[in-house]
Amino acid sequence: MTHIDSIADSSALELTSLNPTTTVIHPKSDSAREWWRSAVIYQVYPRSFADSDGDGIGDIPGVTARLDHLVELGIDAVWLSPFYRSPQADAGYDVADYRDVDPLFGTLADFDELVAQAHSRGLRIIADLVPNHTSDDHEWFKAALAAGPGSPERARYLFREGKGENGELPPNNWKSIFGGPAWTRVNERTSPLAAADDVSDDQWYLHMFDTRQPDLDWEHPEVRAEFEEVLRFWLDRGVDGFRIDVAHGMVKAPGLPDWDGDVAMVEGTTEPAEDGSTGAGNSGPMFDQEGVHDIYRAWNMVLADYAGDRALVAEAWVEPLSRLARYVRSDEMHQAFNFSYLTTAWEAAALRNVVTASLHASDEVGAPTTWVLSNHDVIRHASRMGLTGAAVRPNGIGKNDPQPDAELGLRRARAASLQMLGLPGSAYLYQGEELGLPEHTDLDDDLRQDPAWWRSGYTEAGRDGCRVPLPWESDKPGLGFSPTGKTWLPQPDSYKECAADVQRATEGSTFSMYRDALAVRKSHDLGLGSLGWVEEFAGSATVLAFVNNDVLVLTNFGETPVALPADAQVLISSGPLTDGGVPQDTTVWVQL
Ligand code: BGC
Repeated sequence: MTHIDSIADSSALELTSLNPTTTVIHPKSDSAREWWRSAVIYQVYPRSFADSDGDGIGDIPGVTARLDHLVELGIDAVWLSPFYRSPQADAGYDVADYRDVDPLFGTLADFDELVAQAHSRGLRIIADLVPNHTSDDHEWFKAALAAGPGSPERARYLFREGKGENGELPPNNWKSIFGGPAWTRVNERTSPLAAADDVSDDQWYLHMFDTRQPDLDWEHPEVRAEFEEVLRFWLDRGVDGFRIDVAHGMVKAPGLPDWDGDVAMVEGTTEPAEDGSTGAGNSGPMFDQEGVHDIYRAWNMVLADYAGDRALVAEAWVEPLSRLARYVRSDEMHQAFNFSYLTTAWEAAALRNVVTASLHASDEVGAPTTWVLSNHDVIRHASRMGLTGAAVRPNGIGKNDPQPDAELGLRRARAASLQMLGLPGSAYLYQGEELGLPEHTDLDDDLRQDPAWWRSGYTEAGRDGCRVPLPWESDKPGLGFSPTGKTWLPQPDSYKECAADVQRATEGSTFSMYRDALAVRKSHDLGLGSLGWVEEFAGSATVLAFVNNDVLVLTNFGETPVALPADAQVLISSGPLTDGGVPQDTTVWVQL
């Protein structure tokens, strides 16, 4: 290191003032605005949250019974992954009846009770709506198969004749996001529901996901009318909003033209978008078509008929962020998941860029920014951030894959979560991250249920490792997940020390960090706060520091600790401080 470098470095490794100069890039919001602008929303994945009936699969009464955990944590709303009637070919993202609860998860009465209990505790409920495709067990699809080619029943889906002399080639070259072709020929269907009648039927149907998830044709007026009714069905039952699955996918380019690019879930592309973010977007004729926005304008009007600021949340893997912001223009949806943030590397400069780009893009349309680090489709961030080396974003981790460094991963995950919760906007938590849960990385392959595992020809471990049943009580069988001790996937040994009862009783635990952070976030109104980058670290490669209202949030990515002023009042820290300094991979919140 040269002399000049060392001077530059040492001046960058001390926070010199508790009155730092900042460059404000996002203004403070009016505190009377809608709840979703600043909400911390907790994702419940029902089959893995808590089981009440002992079958080893979580259910809705299990969620109701554990609501007080969420109240103690301090969240504002719960997003429930799908609980509708479904053959569970994609863990419920294959819906057979949009107006009923699957018996696996309970009944409509159980759902009503959950909404009532949540509301009585001040928690809101967001349901997950899956409009891009149905299950092959949905009445419409069964009717379409029975009615045959050319029938009005087929017009609600994307059935087409094949190419080639005998129609033996798929209608275009699109690939399924789970691997393999995006088309299945009716007479080659391998679903358990395939019927003898199918044999002579040689049309093909489109499915961007599994063969059991046929895509709807959103040009069809009955499809549009049906989903507006479905929205009303759940709004009438009291839901506070919807998370819209694959919100960028419902409308396809006319003529379904060939496209040679790759499609993937959150990992998306590897080419940087124009704002520098990578990995959160997909393009091509099946995604982000102009026509999807008409659907959301219509839905916005449906929600507007109801009191209580009901909200629509887009799951759209779209880049750049300015393109994503189009989903949350004032007459469309209200929030969109920020996958650009989730996929950004653990580097000060990259995170500074994505935070700035996110706030600018959403401010442009008057929407709140959202922040997210984990969900049911990606490797839990406590493990993802412990992966070093080339493949930083695989789809799942299997026994024979490079394993994460658990200690490094948790340390970084805590620092990342504390940084995220200090940002203005709305934040999403995935169940179990508040316990510091890692991914299950050595699951037996024969237990895997994610269709991505077999559809990718057993090359992608898939998403089961982030969907393992939660640990509640460390000394009970199945760690208290179910009264019988059964769990639909086995829990790794490491889950014992992560159990909620252990975490609650341990000073400095991940749970206590989240709980304290959410309390400070609320009392300092950080969700509606401003963001100003601290100028002395503005170009730093190792320190990210910003001020939100009267709280300074500082993360050190580098090896040299960052010294704080002697009178600094540290509100929360993601890990122990060294001699008043902030060590590597640690975030602190300091009172200004
Ligand atoms: C959901 C996935 C699901 C897919 C198909 C997504 O983006 O989050 O879990 O497999 O949509 O519905």
